[in-house]
Amino acid sequence: MEQNTQKGKIMEHTVQPSNYASSRRSFVRKGLAVGAAGTLGAALVATGLPAVVEASGGLTPGDAAILRFLSALETLETDFWQQYNELGGIQDSEVPGGSGSAKYTAALAVLDSDMAQYIHDNTEDEFTHFTFINAYLVSKGGAPVNMDRFRTLPSSKATGAQQIGRLTNLMQLTVDTGYWTRYRSRTKNPDFGDTFPPAVPGLLQGQFPAIPRDDADLSPADHIQAIANTAGFHFAFIEQGGTSIYPSLAQRVTHQEVLRILLSIGPTETMHFQTWQDKAGNAPPLTDPTNGLVFPDLNSPPFGGEDFQTNLIMPEPTIFLSRKFPPVSIIRPTETEGAAMGALKALTDDGLFIGQSPAFFAFMHDLAVAADAARHGG
Ligand SMILES: [Fe+2]
Ligand SMILES: [Fe+2]
Repeated sequence: MEQNTQKGKIMEHTVQPSNYASSRRSFVRKGLAVGAAGTLGAALVATGLPAVVEASGGLTPGDAAILRFLSALETLETDFWQQYNELGGIQDSEVPGGSGSAKYTAALAVLDSDMAQYIHDNTEDEFTHFTFINAYLVSKGGAPVNMDRFRTLPSSKATGAQQIGRLTNLMQLTVDTGYWTRYRSRTKNPDFGDTFPPAVPGLLQGQFPAIPRDDADLSPADHIQAIANTAGFHFAFIEQGGTSIYPSLAQRVTHQEVLRILLSIGPTETMHFQTWQDKAGNAPPLTDPTNGLVFPDLNSPPFGGEDFQTNLIMPEPTIFLSRKFPPVSIIRPTETEGAAMGALKALTDDGLFIGQSPAFFAFMHDLAVAADAARHGG
């Protein structure tokens, strides 16, 4: 275990160091390697208490840092939900842009006939999340987060998508569906260092589109269905992350009103997750004929049972805080140490930022480091 960073020193005092936490530390090193080594490293070491104080206005530096990191995450969420909505949601004045892809929309509807409405509503929610947090930051004399300079990634060439620069990539995703078994386990918790097998192992073994890349992706039928299935499991992956990050960071805010913001937005992410987990369970078992990606029947061997059964969408009770307590139905993980960096690592591993610039990674890294340095009362 490396102890040569502030992060390492913090982790040294963690009672239950976990694999999850270890991967957070490795991201710190990876992040340092991403940028032009020396200057980025220096910038991170300095992660700018002076800059943060300057940007915090009437907020504590810690509260401002947490809100700025969440604003960035919500801006990223908005960017990819908008891409989903342009092709597979309802395009209207509430969520403008795009004109829809009939075959992609139909493939999504196999998971639920209301998918287009749900995609629209999730997209609108994300718009309001980053817009509200930025407005709140400004109201306190703080600096809002604007990521427009990083909108450099290509749009889908499929009919229905706008041709504009994007923040995120949905065409080469590696989706970790471990959340599926994590929320079904009665004996394990990621905050205890436990790991969880994926529901769809194939989605961890390559890079797959979650939206059609162009109109050639609209057939054969099992290929566009595999793309829709990938989206279905990705929706739940994203929203379970939001479900954890809000309670994780809420533990370190200072002002009651900032706590109220986190406690009021966070559960909407949980409402999204719950919906998407239910829909993903309806993804038809199939093999994509173009790349061999397999969506298994989660209700039959070697899957099936309590860890995979598709209608077990309520969290199973599990261990929490200490094994001396009885199992309890909870959000997991909620460990606060390193939570921001953990979220950034998960999104990076997901492939969402493939093609992004070193400046983008440095920007996100700085925001995460500052958020993870925030302390209640500080
Ligand atoms: Fe959100
Ligand atoms: Fe969300």
